[in-house]
Order: sequence, then C-alpha cells, then structure tokens
Amino acid sequence: MALVTGAAKGIGRAIALRYAAEGAAVAVDDISLDGAQAVVEEIVAEGGQADAFGADVTKSAEVRAMVETVIGRFGKLDILVNNAGGGAALLGKTSAFKDMAEEVWKWVIDLNLHGTMICTQAVLDQMIERRYGKIINFGSIAGVCGLPNWAEYSAAKGAIISLTMTLAMELGEYGINVNCISPGLIVPEPRPDLPRGTWLRRGGQPAEVAALAAFLASDEAGYITGANYLIDGGRTLGPLPLRSDT
Ligand SMILES: NC(=O)c1ccc[n+]([C@@H]2O[C@H](COP(=O)([O-])OP(=O)(O)OC[C@H]3O[C@@H](n4cnc5c(N)ncnc54)[C@H](O)[C@@H]3O)[C@@H](O)[C@H]2O)c1
Repeated sequence: MALVTGAAKGIGRAIALRYAAEGAAVAVDDISLDGAQAVVEEIVAEGGQADAFGADVTKSAEVRAMVETVIGRFGKLDILVNNAGGGAALLGKTSAFKDMAEEVWKWVIDLNLHGTMICTQAVLDQMIERRYGKIINFGSIAGVCGLPNWAEYSAAKGAIISLTMTLAMELGEYGINVNCISPGLIVPEPRPDLPRGTWLRRGGQPAEVAALAAFLASDEAGYITGANYLIDGGRTLGPLPLRSDT
C-alpha cells in the first residue's frame, strides 16, 4: 500500500500510476480532491486499486485522519511519497530574497518542509511496529546548488535533503529506508526542440521520475538509505558552454 501526496498531476500523478501498474494499492492524495479522484478513475480503469483523498499536507489533523482511513481500509502502509511541494511561483510571487515577503517564505517552508514532516510522522508508528517502510522525499536541484529568486524553495528543499539523512539514521534499525529524489526541470512533454540548459538537451518527464520512485520503493533498493538522487539531465554538472551548437 502506497500513499502519494500531491498526486493529482505532474510527478505525483505519474508515481501513483506507476505504483498502481506495478500492483500496489495507492492512496492518491491532493489538496484538489477532484484532481485526486480523476487519477483514481484512471487507475481503476486500468484494473488497479486506489482511493482518493483531499488532505492538505500542511494540516496534521487532515493527514492523520487520512492515514488512519488508509490503514483501516488496507491494513498497512508500506510506502510514503512526500511529493506535494512547490515554490512561490504557485502564488505568483517569485522574487529576489531581499524583496521576499515573510508570508511567502512561511508558505513555501510550510508546504514543502512542514508537509514532509507532518506526513512522515503520521505514518511512522505503524512502519516502526511492522519494521518495514519506504519513505521517499522530494528535494530539488535548487536544494543542492541554489536558485536565484527561489531562496525559500531552495532552503526548504535543502532542509528536506538533510532531513532525509537524519531520518535514515534514526529509522534504519526499524527496517525503514528513507531516500530523497531531487529533480531538475521536469516537463510534461519532452520537446527536444527547446533549449533546456541540460547536458541531455531536454527536460525530464514525470514518468522518468516515477521510474526512479518505483526503484526506490522496491526491495531491489533495500540497501539504499539516506541517499539523494539527482534526476536532472546532468544540470548540476555545471552550465553548458556558451556555444551556438549546444
Ligand atoms: N517539476 C519540476 O520541474 C520539479 C523540479 C524539482 C523539484 N520538483 C518537486 O517535485 C514535486 C512535484 O512537482 P510537480 O512539478 O509535479 O508539482 P505540480 O505543481 O505539478 O503538482 C503538485 C501537486 O501538489 C498538490 N498540492 C499543492 N499543495 C498541496 C497541499 N498542501 N497538500 C496536498 N497537495 C498539495 C497540487 O494540487 C498539485 O496537484 C514537488 O515537491 C516539487 O517541488 C519538481
């Protein structure tokens, strides 16, 4: 049984579809319940098993109620994907750090970092009891090497990467793997015609991130914990040379 947050669209949706295709029952959570229900319909149409939830990951009471319902229905929760997240662009308020409003900072930290903390705490008791669990967090290349005008986002994602390491240390003795995925630019369509500033000359696709999330949730990745996986077309290797043919 897997719980994927922020799964109505983008990367979260791709992960929910991939997990269901591999035979997992999936709790599809999104602040947009309608969006989550649409993904559940897609999964069920393909013969999979899924339930929709509209919990806001920043509200611990909503998250705890969702986890209780999932465990009541399916008996256990093996996999948590803390995918819900995003930057001030979602508010249309991207700015340089010197101009950033404190409310914007708090909103982005709340959604990404606090949301990850709330969902993880909500699933831990039963994972510890069963001595089994796979927790997959979402960082970003912004959390590894910074991103101008995205200070609050890069701070939140950098914190999620370090939280991942600490949780791996604290939870290893209970058989719980905790890892992080840090994407670069992920776009719905590959569009190799557009310059994307990556060494692969394209943006990534949600399904490519979902493939990594499937591996990390599998027993084949049993010895991997505390790791941060970059999936960025080589973007963090450095900028492309300023040549017209690149
Ligand atoms: N797409 C990228 O290029 C990229 C790059 C680096 C990191 N990431 C990270 O990957 C993850 C997924 O990114 P994406 O681009 O697919 O996101 P997206 O914006 O396409 O989808 C995010 C989903 O989360 C939901 N959501 C927002 N707030 C929520 C809340 N409080 N509770 C529950 N659900 C909520 C939204 O309704 C939406 O359906 C995020 O953590 C993001 O920061 C994405």
